[in-house]
Amino acid sequence: MTATNTRQSRRIIVVDDEFHVRSTITSYLGKNDCKVAVFDNSHDALAAFQRDGCDLVLSDVKMPGMDGVELLERIRELDRDVPVVLMTAYADLDMAVNAIKKHAFDFIIKPVEFECLLVAVEKGLRYRYLSILEKDHSARLEKAIEEKTRELQGMHRQMVHSEKMAAVGLLSAGVAHEINNPLSFVSSNLSTLRRYYSRMNDLLVWQTDAINASGNPDIVMEQEELKKTLKIDRFVGDVQVLLDECLDGVDRIKRIVAGLKNFAHRDEDTATEANLNDLIQSTLTIVWNEIKYVAELKKELGEIPRIRCYPSQINQVIMNLLVNAAHAIDKSGVITVRTWQDENSVCMSVADTGCGMSEETINRIFEPFFTTKEVGKGTGLGLPISYEIVMKHGGTIDVESCVGNGTTFTVRLPLAHPEYAEGE
Ligand SMILES: Nc1ncnc2c1ncn2[C@@H]1O[C@H](COP(=O)(O)OP(=O)(O)O)[C@@H](O)[C@H]1O
Ligand SMILES: [Mg+2]
Repeated sequence: MTATNTRQSRRIIVVDDEFHVRSTITSYLGKNDCKVAVFDNSHDALAAFQRDGCDLVLSDVKMPGMDGVELLERIRELDRDVPVVLMTAYADLDMAVNAIKKHAFDFIIKPVEFECLLVAVEKGLRYRYLSILEKDHSARLEKAIEEKTRELQGMHRQMVHSEKMAAVGLLSAGVAHEINNPLSFVSSNLSTLRRYYSRMNDLLVWQTDAINASGNPDIVMEQEELKKTLKIDRFVGDVQVLLDECLDGVDRIKRIVAGLKNFAHRDEDTATEANLNDLIQSTLTIVWNEIKYVAELKKELGEIPRIRCYPSQINQVIMNLLVNAAHAIDKSGVITVRTWQDENSVCMSVADTGCGMSEETINRIFEPFFTTKEVGKGTGLGLPISYEIVMKHGGTIDVESCVGNGTTFTVRLPLAHPEYAEGE
């Protein structure tokens, strides 16, 4: 067997206390392409191993101070894989067996026959080479598996998201329509009832005053008793509150239905050329009431070209981001709206100095119906709808947030969207 594999590293540490053995082995291995570091004691050999490492250790067993077996143990503690070949006389056979138990790679009987030595060394170097390859391979495999797992998890999240969006879309088409009708008449009837009741109450007050002023004690008494029995005084106040609560509830349902309807009727819009800056300006006039009490608004609108898009849908994205920004601010803060152009897109960011979001919240914001807001204030549909709209425009929506410091949403819309290029 000759040393022909040049890819293998062949650094060998040789330890023997006998000068003659050391020098003949070193010169023989040197001729066989090995790079040898030679030592006359285990301590120095171990120090060299710790400092520089090697691919194989060839050590005498019997040596003054630290013997070969102890050296083997110390090397094993540092590196499980470096092969250690021990050299021993017949008389030390027990020791050799012990050494093998302690994971010596091989042992050679002294006096050393060079052919045997080379076989053991080549075997050891081959083992070392293969274990390095294996480690490298395992590491690469692990990394590949990790990457694949992450990719699959991402795809899975995306699929679950699309499934949910599809379900909401389907649901919204039916439910929004079905609920809308009864909702309209419940809402309008409640308003009418509230108005009628207010008039009846005026009449009741007038009648009570008239009876009290009539000077007829029997009728006054009868009126008082009837009022007591029917608990009129209590419910006069209650009815007003109950009706107000009902109207408030109906308002909330209306908002949810409006959100759902957006899923169903988004496609009825038509694509046209529009400038994002104009869309921002017009949306701002609508949401100004939500913003003006909590935030100073900064506009940094850059020079940007018109793009082909569905303007009313983009308006909706802008509105959702602005309203969310306003909701995130507790007492007072700043909302900054920026636009700019980069190589392929028109970009917009909405940044607020509000409460920010935890990692957990960020992971869920595009889930339909996910909201951290109190009942009545949030429907959890704003961002999922915005996400869908931006995706359909071939764009991206990103978020950066820091709890306590604020949030920035960035929307990028492609300058040329292949689907919308011809109009639809
Ligand atoms: N600018 C923001 N700052 C902090 N949290 C936000 C911001 N925008 C969105 N969020 C979080 O994302 C959630 C989902 O938002 P959205 O889909 O618009 O639903 P909603 O506003 O009805 O709750 C919010 O409830 C809130 O927790
Ligand atoms: Mg919202």
